[in-house]
Amino acid sequence: MTMITSLTARRIWDSRGRPTVEVDVATASGARGRGIAPAGASRGMREAVDLRDGGSRFGGMDVQKALLGVRGEIARAIVGMDVRDQRAIDDVLIALDGTPTKERLGGNALIATSLAVLHAAAAAADTPLWRYLAGDRPATMPLPQIQIFGGGAHAGRRMDVQDFMVIATGAKSFEAAMEMTAEVYRAAGALMAGRGKLAGVADEGGWWPDFNSNEDALDTLVAAIEAAGYVPGSDVGIALDIAASEFGREGRYRLGLDRIELDSDGFAEKLLGWIDRYPIVSIEDPLAEDDEAGMIAFTRAAGDKVQIVGDDFLVTNATLVCEAAAKGACNTVLIKPNQAGTVTQTLEALEAAQRAGYGTIVSARSGETEDVAIVHLAIGWNAGQLKVGSFARSERMAKWNEGIRIETGPRPPGALNVDRLVRWPSRRS
Ligand code: PGA
Ligand code: ZN
Repeated sequence: MTMITSLTARRIWDSRGRPTVEVDVATASGARGRGIAPAGASRGMREAVDLRDGGSRFGGMDVQKALLGVRGEIARAIVGMDVRDQRAIDDVLIALDGTPTKERLGGNALIATSLAVLHAAAAAADTPLWRYLAGDRPATMPLPQIQIFGGGAHAGRRMDVQDFMVIATGAKSFEAAMEMTAEVYRAAGALMAGRGKLAGVADEGGWWPDFNSNEDALDTLVAAIEAAGYVPGSDVGIALDIAASEFGREGRYRLGLDRIELDSDGFAEKLLGWIDRYPIVSIEDPLAEDDEAGMIAFTRAAGDKVQIVGDDFLVTNATLVCEAAAKGACNTVLIKPNQAGTVTQTLEALEAAQRAGYGTIVSARSGETEDVAIVHLAIGWNAGQLKVGSFARSERMAKWNEGIRIETGPRPPGALNVDRLVRWPSRRS
């Protein structure tokens, strides 16, 4: 009864108005599951790539080729398989595609199919997805990282740093973290309005970053936390996603806003200065994906003070996570299912991180939909942290609201725990 009987693929539209892939899986018992591919704008070199049609239609972003792959090759290969055999199905998808970055059938086609299978298996078990994933293991509410100002590739490169976020380190529950963030987000908007700098929002819903310097944004964020009635650092900490691969290459970092070019050590010095001066608790991709030596040095210098997150640097890849752990680069891994391309490979990256004592943050992409699957992954996989963008726009709020529903529902998972913020070496001991 849990045999897959059909796959339906259709084109839907993401939060940037771009085409994306949606797949429905049906089983013999009538259980159904739906998977949707998100899309990144600041992508890592080594992540799974989306299959796009090219040409002029929709800026070359159409996904008809990816849909054809799902309806043809992929459907032929997995119809008849047991929907509960996630690993076997993902292995078939990986072998069928045959490329390391899923470029032939498309990471978008594969992750939508893989997630649809997962949802259908949970539906067949008549269990919420998070609980299906947890099985007998503990599940806990994740600590959210929430964007207040959006920059980098999500704001036309108006600023260098991509995400200015907050983590409500004083929150005792997910719901309380939402309340605290709502006040900080509102206060930040009011501060921008007071300066005549309120200019709408960036791609993930954070306020548009009309700042004179990166420090100006950090000062404003601290002021917003205080204006909301919280103590920066103890109630609410700052998390940054530098997304340094966007402006750093071959050891040179070009900061457009500050009009300077720095080498790896110089840029690291600048970030270490920010860590000393601002209540920063987490920093993602501080150095570029091609700057391994820089990342190791930075982790050595700051890994006992702040969480250092690898996104472009580790691309949800278990092998890269193991290598980074052996060399001492980063102490936390960003987990994005569509970087890996299948649910099984995503889980492998997460488990590799957990085995290494690294923290894990399940993350959405800048191009999203109403899909809330990642909230369930974060809870069911006991990831500890969750990043889905800002506190505005429904593709973001749908996910935060899903977290509230799960936390306040019957038989909720374990409580949110701020100790999930990773600092080395304390965590290792
Ligand atoms: P992306 O960015 O989804 O645009 O790649 C998100 C991130 O860098 O964390
Ligand atoms: Zn990132």
